[in-house]
This record gives sequence, structure tokens and C-alpha cells, in this order.
Amino acid sequence: MARAVARYVCQSCGASSPRWSGRCEACEAWNTIVEEAARDSAPKGLRGKGGRAVDFVGLRGADAPTPRRATGNAEFDRVIGGGLVPASTLLVGGDPGIGKSTLLLQVAGALTSDGSRCAYVSGEESVEQIRLRARRLGLADASVSLAAATNVRDLLASLDRADAPEAVIIDSIQTIYVDTLDSAPGTVAQVRASAAELIRLAKQRGFALLLVGHVTKEGVIAGPRVLEHMVDTVLYFEGERGHQFRILRSVKNRFGPANEIGVFEMTERGLEQVPNPSALFLAERRGNVSGTAVFAGVEGTRPVLVEVQALLAPTSFGSPRRAVVGWDGARLAMVMAVLEARCGLVLGSQDVYLNIAGGLRISEPAADLAVAAALVSSLGNSPVPESLIVFGEIGLSGEVRSVGQYDQRLSEAAKLGFAEALVPPRRGSRGRSAGGLKLREIAHLQDLVDWLGPRPAARAVAFAR
Ligand code: TYD
Ligand code: MG
Repeated sequence: MARAVARYVCQSCGASSPRWSGRCEACEAWNTIVEEAARDSAPKGLRGKGGRAVDFVGLRGADAPTPRRATGNAEFDRVIGGGLVPASTLLVGGDPGIGKSTLLLQVAGALTSDGSRCAYVSGEESVEQIRLRARRLGLADASVSLAAATNVRDLLASLDRADAPEAVIIDSIQTIYVDTLDSAPGTVAQVRASAAELIRLAKQRGFALLLVGHVTKEGVIAGPRVLEHMVDTVLYFEGERGHQFRILRSVKNRFGPANEIGVFEMTERGLEQVPNPSALFLAERRGNVSGTAVFAGVEGTRPVLVEVQALLAPTSFGSPRRAVVGWDGARLAMVMAVLEARCGLVLGSQDVYLNIAGGLRISEPAADLAVAAALVSSLGNSPVPESLIVFGEIGLSGEVRSVGQYDQRLSEAAKLGFAEALVPPRRGSRGRSAGGLKLREIAHLQDLVDWLGPRPAARAVAFAR
């Protein structure tokens, strides 16, 4: 007989522990641990009691391609790998207010425009509110089946049928509950149990299930991370609040490439697709300004050019400030340490502000050299040439290291009219197709400092190189 035991579950990452504490040891979030009654479900003595033997088969089998249903929203389709896979589950996470409901309503509209059936279940908004939004998005005539519901029992009653729609959107999973559980809606136990029920139904009835999950910082409700292991595809919808750009990023995909991005622009008529993000990210660029460099990055399979902006200013009092938007603060500290220790620059008395223009978050190490170029250019007050793009990883001894997708980066830059590239030395000279760009290959960060940095008199002695 299962026994009820109390356990303490982090509402942010789902880790459970036998004791309460103020801080979750797994994800280091504060005040996210809540007591939940859980059944002690350790199976005991199951061996030899009425189980049916499982059939094991070989890896080789009929290799039918994964069936997919393109939604008709090209950026969304690109991120999920071509289209929705029947009977699969997709999770869209993101901060509240970032545009998840808008995106999924638009996807629902696109899906139904070719005759597919799609249900949109909202636990947050009333049917009137959704209709109002649909009108704003120009989707008032789309044949999406709307419902406002929160109880999984009701959802099962309406969806567990042979003529279930091809896609079901649940907005959001944190409002849905299973009435046999004592925990409040939004707790880890509820979110997991309702997701498990819906996923089981999706598998049985063959519909694609799209779950919305709010990312929460306060820990009052469970975050989408507690579901990541249960679903087939995890997408995060990101963006800076003040910016109109939104990035949809796949972080897990059992049916396609992960790390793929889709770019949208939030307008008063909903989310518009941005098929050529580089042009948009660079649209407001002003050339010939010190402290900026254009980084040729690759997100998933897609090359993206963005502007890296740095500003150095003498610290007026106290310890210097380091403010980073869109990049990793630890990585910035490393690049600065290398510039100080290997190239003799003095940065310790400078406030440093670093920004990736347009609201994109970059995690590639290939951005190191572009960040260094922006920093050195700001310090030396000498602009990076307007027609130059930069990429390359920096090692701790100051060496500039090669990165992947070399040609892809160059050809995207050439497409956008850039003429030069500051790049790591290329290993082997296989097919030196630089797309018409003039390559400035540098092997050590010192070369960059000599080129754009402050005059040597202003530098400290380079003691380690
Ligand atoms: P929403 O989709 O409700 O966010 P989420 O579901 O992630 O919480 O988006 C809300 C924001 O989007 C809101 O601040 C207003 C903005 N918005 C527009 O700018 N244009 C539009 O056409 C719509 C529908 C929303
Ligand atoms: Mg919403």
C-alpha cells in the first residue's frame, strides 16, 4: 500500500529533498521550496506478478520519414524542424508577457488555414479576451476551436475521441489541474501530473500537443523546466522587454536540430516573421563609431550578424561596474583578464558596459574576438572599419582560435555587403572561398591591440606574454 510522505519540492527546477530549506541546492534559487504530499511509489515485490514480457526488436527497421505537418508559420516551422509531429509534445516556455499566447494563437490560425483542426484551450483568459486578440491579429475568421478550461478531467472528456483535433494548444500548463491531487494548481506535482495525462492522451489519439509554460522567478508556481524531460521538444521564447524583437529558440528537439532560432518582431498586429534577421539587427547601426564591432555568429544552422557594443568609462568611485546585456558576464571577465595579462592593457579602473544590439542573447565562444575588438576599440577610441566583420575564440594565453562554420559566416557577411573579416588563422587552406571578403587573419590578441588599441605610452608594461 502506497504511503503518503511529505517531501519538499523546488518549484523552479523540480528537485525534491526530505528537508525544507531557504535555498534550492540544485538550482540555487531562493524561496522556491514548498512542501508537497507525495505517494511513496517505490514498487515493491513486482517480480513475477502478472507482467507481460516486452518484445525487443533490432535497431534496423522500416525507415519511414517522420511525418510532419507544417503549420504555415515559416519561422515557427524552421525552429521545430519543419512542422509538428503527430502525437508529440512541444513545450513553449518564456517570461510572462513576452508573447507566447500571441505566437500560439497565430500558429493556430496558420494551421487551420489549410483545413487542419486545432483546439486552443486557455486557462488564463476568457473566450472573449482571446477573440479580441484574434481580431487584433486578423484571425477573427480562423476556424480555431476555443475553450476556457482548467480541469484535466474535462479536457480528457472533450479530447479523448476518435475525431480529436490534429493539434491542441494548452495555455498555460500551470493553470491546469488534476482534481485527484491535493496540491494547488501550478505546483510541481500538479504541473507534472496534468502534463503526463495530456501527453498520454496525445500519444493515444495522435494529436500534437503544444504546452505553454511561464518561466517564473518567484517560485510561486512551477517553471517549465520541471517538464523538460517529459516532452519531445522544448522551445524558449526570449527577448528584451523594451525591444520589439523576439527569438524563439529550440533547446531540445527529439525530431530535429536543437539550438535553431526563429526571429519575430512584435508589432501592434502581432508577431511578424523576420526572414532576414541580420539585416534587421544591423539596421540601426551607425558606422565609424568606436566601441562597436559586427560579430558574424551562427545560431543553430543559421548565420546571424549582430553588433557588439562596448563602452569603457573611468570609474568615478568604488569598485568598477561591469554590466552585460545579451552575453555571458563570466566570459567578459575572461576576455578582459586576457587583455590585461597578455596584452598589457589596463582595464581595472574602467567601468565596462557591453551590449548585444537588438536583444539577441549570444552564447557562442566565437564572439570572444568581436567583444575584444569592441573593448579595444572603445579604449583606444579608434573605430573598427565599418565594412569589417569579426569572429574567433580567444584562449587564455591570448591566442585566437579557429571556430566552426567559417565559410557560412563569411558568406552571410558577403551577402550583406561587408568587405573585410577579422578572423582566426585558417587551418589548412582548403578551398579558400572567402566570399569575396578580404581576410585579416590574426593569431594573437596582441595584433588586435596593436591595431586598434591605445598608443603604447598609455599601457602598462606587458609582463607576461
Ligand atoms: P502575450 O502573448 O499575452 O504574452 P504571454 O502569453 O507570453 O504572457 O503577449 C502580451 C504582450 O504582447 C503584451 O504586452 C502586448 C503585446 N502585444 C502586442 O504588442 N501586439 C499584439 O498584437 C498583441 C496581441 C500583443
Ligand atoms: Mg499568455
